[in-house]
Amino acid sequence: MPLLEVRDLNVEFRTRDGIAKAVNGVNYTVDEGETLAVLGESGSGKSVTAQAVMGILDMPPGKITGGEVLFRGQDLLKLKEEERRKIRGAEMAMIFQDALSSLNPVLSVGEQIGELFVVHKGMSRKDAKAKAVELMDRVRIPAAKERVGQYPHQFSGGMRQRIMIAMALALEPALIIADEPTTALDVTVQAQVMDLLAELQRELHMGLILITHDLGVVADVADKIAVMYAGRIVEQAPVHEIYRAPAHPYTKGLLESIPRLDQKGQELYAIKGLPPNLMNIPPGCAFNPRCPMAQDVCRTDVPPLADVSETRRSACHFWKETLDAAQ
Ligand SMILES: Nc1ncnc2c1ncn2[C@@H]1O[C@H](COP(=O)(O)OP(=O)(O)OP(=O)(O)O)[C@@H](O)[C@H]1O
Ligand code: SF4
Ligand SMILES: [Mg+2]
Repeated sequence: MPLLEVRDLNVEFRTRDGIAKAVNGVNYTVDEGETLAVLGESGSGKSVTAQAVMGILDMPPGKITGGEVLFRGQDLLKLKEEERRKIRGAEMAMIFQDALSSLNPVLSVGEQIGELFVVHKGMSRKDAKAKAVELMDRVRIPAAKERVGQYPHQFSGGMRQRIMIAMALALEPALIIADEPTTALDVTVQAQVMDLLAELQRELHMGLILITHDLGVVADVADKIAVMYAGRIVEQAPVHEIYRAPAHPYTKGLLESIPRLDQKGQELYAIKGLPPNLMNIPPGCAFNPRCPMAQDVCRTDVPPLADVSETRRSACHFWKETLDAAQ
């Protein structure tokens, strides 16, 4: 049984202008100790999917209209909020892009890390503080003992991300979702924070969902990749297979826009045109207006996520041709 299995997840946002179909039948699995990288342009539904899995989706305006989120076989979407809250933090935790808006500005970092042990483990404040120092050491914050009483704004961006990683790891969850955890940082600091996260993930044998725009990072740390477009997974495969030869024209476009090493962290620009308006997704394959390989059938029939191999799937009518052309 996989650690996490997302099955046919659908999420909509009801807004004044209409219904935005943000997630349209997402399927993926994450095993213990495995890293799944989720890629795709801005607005493709990466964060909304993650929020639905974590149980922190803004509802309303968001609404889960279908699907299952199986964690160790149990459907989290069927649990009461109180039961979900217990799982959050203890069994699965999330790391966000911007620590400054996620951390509480008026509590010291030690209090915030320690709080997790007080609430979930019933520890005394004194023991919880000692645990906080231990965790700050673990994420290599220098002089942890002296700094445990300081406030978030007294730390640099990179150190604040480390504090958020410390909080996510505190209760040794089985699954971490990191939503662009290094995007807001300087390039050199990005690499350090990413290395730290990858190292701790291996050490603790956690499942990791890493949402990122940075294909350079993906090649280094992920086991497999899910590529999202307009709220669907369009290709999923082990990292080395995707890099060797993409089986979907959108993946191909993403790979061709890999930024040069000296521009690590840049956004992806090479694919012409824009992702669709989610209130008005084109019929057939959502990528067809931008796809250099589109044929008539692409404008009428939605391509199913087909098995390319035992480990690989692609939602393209012409995945064979795409794969052959790349090999
Ligand atoms: N609170 C909200 N209200 C209305 N629509 C929303 C809301 N949050 C997300 N959406 C819709 O869901 C779509 C997907 O958003 P999501 O945040 O998952 O994108 P993303 O893939 O994470 O993009 P990015 O790379 O920019 O973070 C958005 O384009 C938007 O249409
Ligand atoms: S189904 Fe058609 S439009 Fe969609 S990616 Fe494949 S070739 Fe392109
Ligand atoms: Mg996002």
